[in-house]
Amino acid sequence: MPDSAALPDEKLLSRAASYIKGCKRLVVLTGAGVSKESGIPTFRDKLTGLWEGYDPGQLATPEGFLKNPPLVWKWYDWRRQMVSAAEPNDGHRAIAQLQKLVPTTVVTQNVDRLHQRAGSENVLELHGNILTFRCFERGHQALDGVASGLDEPPICQCGSLLRPNVVWFGEALPQSVLADANKAAKLCDLMFVVGTSALVQPAASLPHIALDRGAIVVEVNPNETPLSEDATLFLSGASGLVMPQLVRLFEALN
Ligand code: APR
Repeated sequence: MPDSAALPDEKLLSRAASYIKGCKRLVVLTGAGVSKESGIPTFRDKLTGLWEGYDPGQLATPEGFLKNPPLVWKWYDWRRQMVSAAEPNDGHRAIAQLQKLVPTTVVTQNVDRLHQRAGSENVLELHGNILTFRCFERGHQALDGVASGLDEPPICQCGSLLRPNVVWFGEALPQSVLADANKAAKLCDLMFVVGTSALVQPAASLPHIALDRGAIVVEVNPNETPLSEDATLFLSGASGLVMPQLVRLFEALN
């Protein structure tokens, strides 16, 4: 079991900081691991991951929603309340700080908006967000706030059920967001891949797009993933420890 409280070797951290110094366009691609230190469970971590205790087919597909709308609604309501009560952590704040120092595109699979609350701007939300709603049939946006604690989905003016504004398994990603993320991956010369199991497409292909174009890819994760072997550098550790340390080392180089 890796020790997520440990920092990677100083030499590796310094190497990553020097990559930042040399880069012109940075992409930071994130997943559930960056929010773990804010108390939000990941999906695939052993024992603590959401998909260990819940069935994605029931809870995160359009078919699951239609089969049992109250179940899906209540599960998202629980997650929404958890996200609303959570605070961004040092990893989110370090990524927001990087964005101020280097031209950076933040691309996230997370639906919790913690990057934005930490100060990141123009975040590309590949999987939407859990805090807003649209109707199932026609995609009408729910403009008024939706109360938490409801036992079933409210009804849109058009008569359809409201659903969270997230991307479920089997659904297409928002096309313009995906196009912007692909473009950023093609144009960057450095990509940090932080806190993702690198298993879910199309997000998982973004580091490979960058690598194919000659960019440096640095992975930050307490555990190895299918990307680790191909990444230029693997930094083993928790995002809330590694990312602030990288920013400190980078600032010391300037
Ligand atoms: N810092 C960095 N990484 C961490 C930390 C931490 N403190 N703690 C755990 N991790 C890593 C895990 O080792 C794992 O590789 O975060 C990763 C989380 O992986 P997943 O749970 O698979 O999350 P993610 O990659 O974001 O999942 C992608 O799958 O179910 C869908 O839509 C959901 O957006 C999600 C997508």
